[in-house]
Amino acid sequence: MLKQDSLKISKKPPLYESVASRIVGLVDEGTFHPGDKVPSIRQLSQQFNVSINTVKMAYGFLEDRRVIESRPQSGYYVKARLTGIPKEPQVDNQRLNPSEITSSDIVIQVMGDVMNHNLIQFGAAIPDPDLIPVDKLNRMLSTESRRFKEESTGYAMPPGNVKLRTQIARLMMRAGCTLTPDDIIITNGATEAVFLALRTLCKPGDTLIIGTPIYFNFLQLIQSLGIRVLEIPMSPVDGINPDAVESAVEQHKVQACMVISNFNNPLGNCMPDKQKQRLLDVLKKHGVPLIEDDINGDLSFSAQRPSVTKSFDTKGDVILCSSFSKTLAPGYRLGWIAPGRYFDAVKRQKLVTNIASPTPTQLAIAEFFISGGYEHHLRSIRKIYAKKVAQMADAIANHFPKETRITRPQGGFTLWVELPEKADSLKLYNMAHSKGISIAPGHIFSTTDNFRHHIRLNAALWSDKTKWAVEELGKMVSEIV
Ligand SMILES: Cc1ncc(COP(=O)(O)O)c(C=O)c1O
Repeated sequence: MLKQDSLKISKKPPLYESVASRIVGLVDEGTFHPGDKVPSIRQLSQQFNVSINTVKMAYGFLEDRRVIESRPQSGYYVKARLTGIPKEPQVDNQRLNPSEITSSDIVIQVMGDVMNHNLIQFGAAIPDPDLIPVDKLNRMLSTESRRFKEESTGYAMPPGNVKLRTQIARLMMRAGCTLTPDDIIITNGATEAVFLALRTLCKPGDTLIIGTPIYFNFLQLIQSLGIRVLEIPMSPVDGINPDAVESAVEQHKVQACMVISNFNNPLGNCMPDKQKQRLLDVLKKHGVPLIEDDINGDLSFSAQRPSVTKSFDTKGDVILCSSFSKTLAPGYRLGWIAPGRYFDAVKRQKLVTNIASPTPTQLAIAEFFISGGYEHHLRSIRKIYAKKVAQMADAIANHFPKETRITRPQGGFTLWVELPEKADSLKLYNMAHSKGISIAPGHIFSTTDNFRHHIRLNAALWSDKTKWAVEELGKMVSEIV
């Protein structure tokens, strides 16, 4: 059943993306400053020895991402934003210690904000409701429930609907995985997938390695299971450092490690493949399994879907978790888990936890895939989210104090913002709330106070109607620094 040989699919990005990233590199390294004119399309085509069309596509890509702008009759210019990215945390490998998590009322409040329709929803990482293919999904729900009258009202016993599992196995080929439908169990969202993985691998009092900042509800979930965490601050560019993980597993008895490897929530970054491989090597050497959350993996801003760490796993040591909450419909509560060699134990946990996941939504999403709808849908939302993230980052750079630093997500829709050190993000949360804006304060992404002057903003809800709220937030930050 377990066939985790890595499948090597061509990973070369399209030429125009390579050209675009060379330009970004030149801006990052100071060859071109904000306001500078970049080479004309013809010049660049000659300098890089690529076609005019490739340069046009690269410049269009960079315009969408607000790196350059075209000025009529004049050419292309570097846009005046590009703030610094959040500082790299200092990791003292000798001082990494497991800690207990305390429950947090503020997490519950931030999550509850979603139900308050009077708030601008920059807090929870929910997709833009306008980008949910609601009519198509409703149609599928209705036709599939009619077509499979009996099946649709009965239990879809674990591992769950086989048509959906087949589609997921095919989908994950693009992330470098060779999974069969029999390697996959359907869950109630990624939250349940992670819950089942934790229940399978850890018991109360055990220690789990996590990279922080981390999606806050996972901290609460871990706390509810009585598991202690050994927290490793992550690079906003590359994610968790395998050397720090190695040092931690050498010093402490650790039961498992958990990472959000692609388009991390909140950082938006991707672990490079080499780092994924190295992390897996380190964990393997010490006999520590990995829980990998890939919920945003399909939301890449480029044509290239990143691989998952599981694609390098030949022994079934990685438990891969994901869901359709970011790409399709969070309310469907449908996710999945590929538990590797823990398949039987996880399946048992699923059964005793809630027997099965809802059948009608499994049927509908399977049919959505079979009709080719998912691919088409992804192509359009990825572009829109890339634009929203770039526009919101631009607005933050324009309206927040100049010391503010912002991540450069390559996918997903969250922005992680480092405010000037004096700013207390909890205070900002309360001020913003009173003006009808929800944000996620940095405190809740860690058990330490490393992120008390950070906030996470959901760019999915950025629009012409909500942009005033960023301006407003900028004024509030200026008041508290
Ligand atoms: C990284 C990550 N994992 C899991 C979840 C929860 O996913 P689901 O709604 O599928 O349970 C979220 C939601 O924000 C998330 O950001």
